[in-house]
Amino acid sequence: MNELKPSEIVQELDKYIIGQNAAKRSVAIALRNRWRRQQVDEELRDEIAPKNIILIGPTGVGKTEIARRLSKLTDSPFTKVEASKFTEVGYVGRDVESMIRDLVELTVTLLKSREQENVQEKAGKLAEERLLDLLLPKTTKQATAPPLRPGEDSLLSPELLPPPEEESSSTREKLREMLHKGKLDNRFVDLDVADKSMPMVEVFSNVGMEEMGINFKDMLGGLMPKNSKKKKIKVPEALDMLTQEEAQSLVDMDRVVKTAIEKVEQSGIVFLDEIDKIAGKEGGHGPDVSREGVQRDLLPIVEGSTVSTKYGPVRTDHILFIASGAFHMVKPADLIPELQGRFPIRVELSSLGKDEFVRILTEPKNALLLQYIALLRTEGVNLVFEDSSVAEIAHIAEDVNTNTENIGARRLHTLMEKLLEDILFDASDMTEKDVVITSDHVKDKLKDIKDDEDLSRYIL
Ligand SMILES: Nc1ncnc2c1ncn2[C@@H]1O[C@H](COP(=O)(O)OP(=O)(O)OP(=O)(O)O)[C@@H](O)[C@H]1O
Ligand SMILES: [Mg+2]
Repeated sequence: MNELKPSEIVQELDKYIIGQNAAKRSVAIALRNRWRRQQVDEELRDEIAPKNIILIGPTGVGKTEIARRLSKLTDSPFTKVEASKFTEVGYVGRDVESMIRDLVELTVTLLKSREQENVQEKAGKLAEERLLDLLLPKTTKQATAPPLRPGEDSLLSPELLPPPEEESSSTREKLREMLHKGKLDNRFVDLDVADKSMPMVEVFSNVGMEEMGINFKDMLGGLMPKNSKKKKIKVPEALDMLTQEEAQSLVDMDRVVKTAIEKVEQSGIVFLDEIDKIAGKEGGHGPDVSREGVQRDLLPIVEGSTVSTKYGPVRTDHILFIASGAFHMVKPADLIPELQGRFPIRVELSSLGKDEFVRILTEPKNALLLQYIALLRTEGVNLVFEDSSVAEIAHIAEDVNTNTENIGARRLHTLMEKLLEDILFDASDMTEKDVVITSDHVKDKLKDIKDDEDLSRYIL
């Protein structure tokens, strides 16, 4: 997937996002440049720094949506964070370095689960053996018997004399066959299940300790005696659990971590949403947490520095940062100059009008109309929108956006909810299963509200 050409990336984004071509093009270029850099000779490769981007545009025009879709297109480590969540180092809250730690954590988890999938078959086999061990009554301690696992008692009862070797192995094969045929699906086995509930530890986790990148729970998990309970579990479930366990232990975590860090360093992408919320020189809302402070903390990370994580140090030199913000009250020029300089590419997203709204309602793969149609179909209701009704909705959305607050495509959500509220409520009891939304219907339902500016401020 990583080898998508810019035009293909734009094409993929087009499936979900209407318009905003400039923004799509620049993220496509940035993404492709990651791949291009990988192809360059090593010596020069290190010199090529990513060109960070700021997406600028009013609220609800697709900034975050572009990021969300982009993340699905790329195999690069990707994380999206809200700049407004950060506080200066030394204050309670998340410091900016945590985004790099998140990125590493995410990547490790992802790679680990991929690895686990790769070893699934082998794990399945091992799990099967373990399950057979559990199913066969323990009758013997001699060498031919399956090895005892810690915690397993050898229930040596006098009436069960050790069977001859061949008999035990043929029983085992019979049992295996029954297992494969699903004949044991209703039987239970005793399994040691790790007790995951550690509520007390949860309270402390990730507060304060985060700067060190230490996961308190992991630490304690190692110190405390493994909390495991014997539980009766159905065979198929037990097999699943054992497979998981085996898969986990088959994965070479050292390698996973190494690959993850390399991937993050070489092709990681951080999407910094709401960056305008930390622009501006005056103090922020919180007590004494200055936005400028957060910007200063961001500088070294964007510029390239080493962040220590629980998996080891991570260099940020080649991580791509895509920032985004509405920049209503402030301008990119209100960011501290050093930070501005580190985001050389600026792209503006345009505000949306009625033509775009018609397309947003109908064209994307996840279009709003399709969503409602699918929802109501579950009740057996056939919802149909006449073209004229879609045009009317778009028209009203534009009007309300102009007359009250411009919230972009989000307006469509509020309008649609209002428009369909009766049908959504009644659908379960309706006998007439075909519902056609006409433009008159739309006008009926929305026009009065729309024309009354005060009312629409509250309702739409
Ligand atoms: N150009 C577009 N094409 C399709 N859908 C869009 C478009 N713009 C916005 N939307 C839809 O509108 C909603 C809000 O968009 P999004 O979250 O991207 O806003 P934003 O630009 O990040 O705004 P904010 O500055 O408030 O964060 C999403 O559900 C998204 O699907
Ligand atoms: Mg957003």
